[in-house]
Amino acid sequence: MTFTEPSDLPPENSPDNPNEFAAELFIDAEQKTTAERATVEQIHKSESMGALVRADGLFAGYFPGVNILNGSDLYAKEGELVGIIGPNGAGKSTLLKAIFGLVHVNEGAVLLRDEDITNLRADQLVRRGVGFVPQNNNVFPSLTIEENMQMGAFQDPKKFTERFDKVAGLFPTLGERRKQRAGSLSGGERQMVAMGRALMMEPSVLLLDEPSAGLSPALQDEVFVRVKGINETGVTVIIVEQNARRCLQIVDRGYVLDQGRNAYTGTGASLANDSKVIELYLGTLARA
Ligand SMILES: Nc1ncnc2c1ncn2[C@@H]1O[C@H](COP(=O)(O)OP(=O)(O)OP(=O)(O)O)[C@@H](O)[C@H]1O
Ligand SMILES: [Mg+2]
Repeated sequence: MTFTEPSDLPPENSPDNPNEFAAELFIDAEQKTTAERATVEQIHKSESMGALVRADGLFAGYFPGVNILNGSDLYAKEGELVGIIGPNGAGKSTLLKAIFGLVHVNEGAVLLRDEDITNLRADQLVRRGVGFVPQNNNVFPSLTIEENMQMGAFQDPKKFTERFDKVAGLFPTLGERRKQRAGSLSGGERQMVAMGRALMMEPSVLLLDEPSAGLSPALQDEVFVRVKGINETGVTVIIVEQNARRCLQIVDRGYVLDQGRNAYTGTGASLANDSKVIELYLGTLARA
């Protein structure tokens, strides 16, 4: 090994300086990310007109002064199936909760048919046709399937029978096993109960948070088929999914959320084939 005189090293401000080179790379990556986000914002501005539901530049979080969402945009047009993917902790659940009034929106707006519904209570949103199936604890385990469905129709009990028949048409198991306690059902069946319960209010838009999580591959497939089926009955669906590849196969459009902001958006097929999305998000997510 030869001794390097200090004078042999490149000067501090030389592009050959390794530190500077690293800093340049970093700035380059930052600028690219900024440019990509600006593109997403631009797409949102130009394409979201007339959307059934939209979130414009949301800043939201769990504690005052700490935002988890940092300017997130999203829209879904009537009848669309829209997916949100992204790494753990990106803010996907927070985004759905912010739309559903469960996390305080500090800046930005949520609109439903151009009506400002930002920070309305969940029951007010249900009345307006927004349904939400949370990621965890989404059934009442000690209640039967039928009682869970009654909870879903609590704002309109007279419509119970008619609506339950409809939901049982989509999920026959729920009708056949109506007297069984939800806690004794399999994970997949429980997801059907959770989705069925949200459908009891005949929502025009349904927010689903990771409906396939924790299920076997065969049951995951069934959930995706069911979600597509719900969407085909005319319900607009926004679905958050950890099974990113499968999600992108069924959605009309998707968003990749990273650090509380949308990093990419496009049709399901275009995102699934985007080399950067594959490299940055689908590789690890696919293995997860
Ligand atoms: N109830 C809460 N109180 C405080 N912080 C929270 C709460 N829920 C989530 N967070 C924080 O908000 C950030 C985003 O969490 P979020 O649950 O939205 O991520 P996610 O994208 O849904 O992740 P995952 O894929 O693991 O479900 C995380 O840093 C998390 O710790
Ligand atoms: Mg989540």
